[in-house]
Amino acid sequence: VILTQDELKKIAAYKAVEYVESGMVLGLGTGSTAKHAVARIGELLKQGKLKNIIGIPTSKMTHEQALSVGIPLSDLDSHPVIDLAIDGADEVDPYLNLVKGRGGSLLREKMIEGTCKKFIVIVDESKLVKYLGGSGLAMPVEIVPFCWKFTASRLQKLFQDSGCVAKLRTFGENDEPFVTDNGNYIVDLYFKTSIGDLKAASDSILQLPGVAEHGMFLDMATTVIVAGELGVTVKHK
Ligand code: A5P
Repeated sequence: VILTQDELKKIAAYKAVEYVESGMVLGLGTGSTAKHAVARIGELLKQGKLKNIIGIPTSKMTHEQALSVGIPLSDLDSHPVIDLAIDGADEVDPYLNLVKGRGGSLLREKMIEGTCKKFIVIVDESKLVKYLGGSGLAMPVEIVPFCWKFTASRLQKLFQDSGCVAKLRTFGENDEPFVTDNGNYIVDLYFKTSIGDLKAASDSILQLPGVAEHGMFLDMATTVIVAGELGVTVKHK
């Protein structure tokens, strides 16, 4: 049997939900993989197999979905201690560092997933890379809209040795700026070569005024569940 990418995402998501126990406060991720986990948690609540779950959604979209499947919700202000978060990723390197944010929810994801006791990342095998940025896809940075061109050009300059190109994320026919749940813009960074020391890269991005957050999630995942044609692999930190 050849499984579709969506079926692989669902397999990884269902496996992650096996780690959920009644009474937990859960970080609920965003995206086409995480949505399978949210749906599954709702199903288990309905069946009475899970009880007393509180979900902390990482985006407005997940908030809507979680409500629609009957997961009681709260936020970090009321529930600052999160037992487990489950979310997808755009890239996973061999050390379980991640790129996230192609869906645009990186800031809330990082706030929530950066504080949980256990963070399970769920991916299909297409997300595995040798080094971050290695898929040729974007590394997102959330920035304030004020003088975004100035901030984008400073970001591009930071990584000029890696052949970085910074592009404002847009949508629609008229190339409207994509606006995040927090009212910010996203600049996508594309690299020609590896960006080297990730911690140094992270620090230099965060030092730029105007930057809210970036999509590198370093040393945060405690477990990565990878679904592939040959089965499911669980990698622990
Ligand atoms: C949302 O902003 C992202 O961080 C997603 O978690 C990430 O893009 C993975 O999404 P998919 O599961 O849709 O690939």
